[in-house]
Amino acid sequence: MAEQQNPTIGLGLWKIPNSECADVVYNAIKVGYRHLDSACDYGNEVEVGQGIARAIADGICTREDLTIVSKLWNTYHSPEHVKPALEKTLSDLGLEYLDSYLIHFPIAQPFVPFETRYPPEWFFDPDAAEPKMQTAPVPLSETWRAMETLVEQGLAKTIGVCNYNSGLLNDLMSYAKIKPADLQIESHPYLTQERLIRLAKDYGIAVTAFSPLGAMSYFELDMAEAFESVLAQPIVVAIAAKYKKTEAQIVLRWGVQRGCTLVSKSTKPERLKENLDIFDFSLSEQDMQDISELNRNRRFNDPGNFCEAAFNKFYPIYD
Ligand SMILES: NC(=O)c1ccc[n+]([C@@H]2O[C@H](COP(=O)([O-])OP(=O)(O)OC[C@H]3O[C@@H](n4cnc5c(N)ncnc54)[C@H](OP(=O)(O)O)[C@@H]3O)[C@@H](O)[C@H]2O)c1
Repeated sequence: MAEQQNPTIGLGLWKIPNSECADVVYNAIKVGYRHLDSACDYGNEVEVGQGIARAIADGICTREDLTIVSKLWNTYHSPEHVKPALEKTLSDLGLEYLDSYLIHFPIAQPFVPFETRYPPEWFFDPDAAEPKMQTAPVPLSETWRAMETLVEQGLAKTIGVCNYNSGLLNDLMSYAKIKPADLQIESHPYLTQERLIRLAKDYGIAVTAFSPLGAMSYFELDMAEAFESVLAQPIVVAIAAKYKKTEAQIVLRWGVQRGCTLVSKSTKPERLKENLDIFDFSLSEQDMQDISELNRNRRFNDPGNFCEAAFNKFYPIYD
């Protein structure tokens, strides 16, 4: 039987259309999701808040039952913009506090006022003749200090980072007065990131894996080729048949069983349930290893690729 109300599998909110978002959030909470992974950049925090409010009003859960995460966008890295950015997110979500606030990318971009554009996305001026992404000279240490004040003020219970590599994590640990509680990174069988996950664990930082199904999210963005589906890998198909589970459930179980929290997205009620129904079996050590051996260090969500392809700026961060 599915383990209900489990924060180990969160609902990812990226690319959920505004028109469906409140219902998806409500339905997800109804079937047992208790962890929501939001962000300013996803452009749907108002609707996420509506779904949460409806679930609470219907008595399905309380605010305290939920783990609600959001992320600081790149244009708000300057210390004076960090608190207003969180306050905007809180007001859109209709919440008093977040359980976790994360730096979305280790990339600082020039400030864009809320009235000019929200969410600001990647281009500095999308209406320019040749729109281009720009960066801003804001050290991550200054952004982190401002993040720390959010915890001190009770606006975020914990703070953390996304898309940091081991060098940035080591650096952060050298100056953080409030340590990051969570590192959110892309990880799936094609990008196992064993050393980074081990480093985070050595520091006592929890790891959340995004895009746990690998290429699935990236087909519609033309950022993955059809042959790159992790779910279609013969070893995954064979293991799914053995355990009488779907390929998605096998890949998610692998992710949880290696000690990560996962954030996975679906707009479909049956898949929301399917993706939560992974707690009534365990993969053998051999099956875990066979899935891990699919690793090919394939990163689908790589600013080193998409910033140049979509936003006219070559800006690698992992190399
Ligand atoms: N911090 C960051 O920089 C960052 C970057 C990327 C993502 N994230 C977070 O991570 C979340 C998850 O990432 P993601 O959306 O890339 O991940 P994902 O859960 O790995 O993939 C979602 C895709 O898989 C499909 N899918 C879901 N369940 C399925 C199932 N059981 N069988 C077959 N297909 C299935 C979904 O389609 P349907 O919706 O049609 O079901 C969607 O196309 C995001 O929503 C976001 O919250 C964070």
